[in-house]
Amino acid sequence: MIIYENVSKIYSSDSPALMDVNLRIEEREFVTIVGASGAGKSTLLKMLYAEERPTRGNVYFHRNNLVNLKNRHLPQHRRQIGTVFQDFKLLPKKTLGENVAFAMEVAGKSNAEIQKATNQILDIVGLSQKIDKYPGEVSGGEQQRAALARALVNKPKVLVADEPTGNLDPISTWEIMQLLLKINEFGTTVILATHNKGMVDKLQRRVISINKGRIARDEAMGKYCI
Ligand SMILES: Nc1ncnc2c1ncn2[C@@H]1O[C@H](COP(=O)(O)OP(=O)(O)OP(=O)(O)O)[C@@H](O)[C@H]1O
Ligand SMILES: [Mg+2]
Repeated sequence: MIIYENVSKIYSSDSPALMDVNLRIEEREFVTIVGASGAGKSTLLKMLYAEERPTRGNVYFHRNNLVNLKNRHLPQHRRQIGTVFQDFKLLPKKTLGENVAFAMEVAGKSNAEIQKATNQILDIVGLSQKIDKYPGEVSGGEQQRAALARALVNKPKVLVADEPTGNLDPISTWEIMQLLLKINEFGTTVILATHNKGMVDKLQRRVISINKGRIARDEAMGKYCI
């Protein structure tokens, strides 16, 4: 379970990126975060994988207050949260298979485990045939599916997807959406930030709207907050 408690984030002295955000996300939920560019979506997500810390307030992940997370515990924390981004962030000199395997190597898994899990997850995202291709040799949609496989191979509790389809055509976008739904059905909490209104409408899941750093609407609360 994830709780944001009175969270504000001020990067510089001008307007805050987040202002007094209160939010509760249950295990196995599928949540979409929407809002204009600069509204604070990425900042909200970054708090969760502790790339940014709140200026005020607390963020709890399974009862651990991330405000108090020691740097030496960061890798362990981040392994519980898979991440995918608009720009895929695959390592260009590694094949798709090696990109996925690498995430397990740094987590200290055995070679046998790595090979089995890599094959399995690439099969789930439909990339078994492309395991030996380099990112530059496959389509954007395939790169994002490989990035998803990499995010999931260590079986994280939560998947954070920050505008994962921003660079993709509608068909690839829909494929990624289907995968996110499938991952959620398998039991992973999914938190998706997106501009894509059509996708949000199709997904029909809880929508949280952010406006200038404040939660403007959270469907789970069944009311407008402003
Ligand atoms: N590292 C940073 N340093 C200073 N200001 C930042 C930093 N990151 C974000 N901001 C500012 O914080 C605000 C929220 O940014 P954020 O990236 O969270 O928005 P977003 O909703 O994800 O936008 P987009 O849809 O464009 O990705 C913006 O005003 C942005 O300029
Ligand atoms: Mg963003």
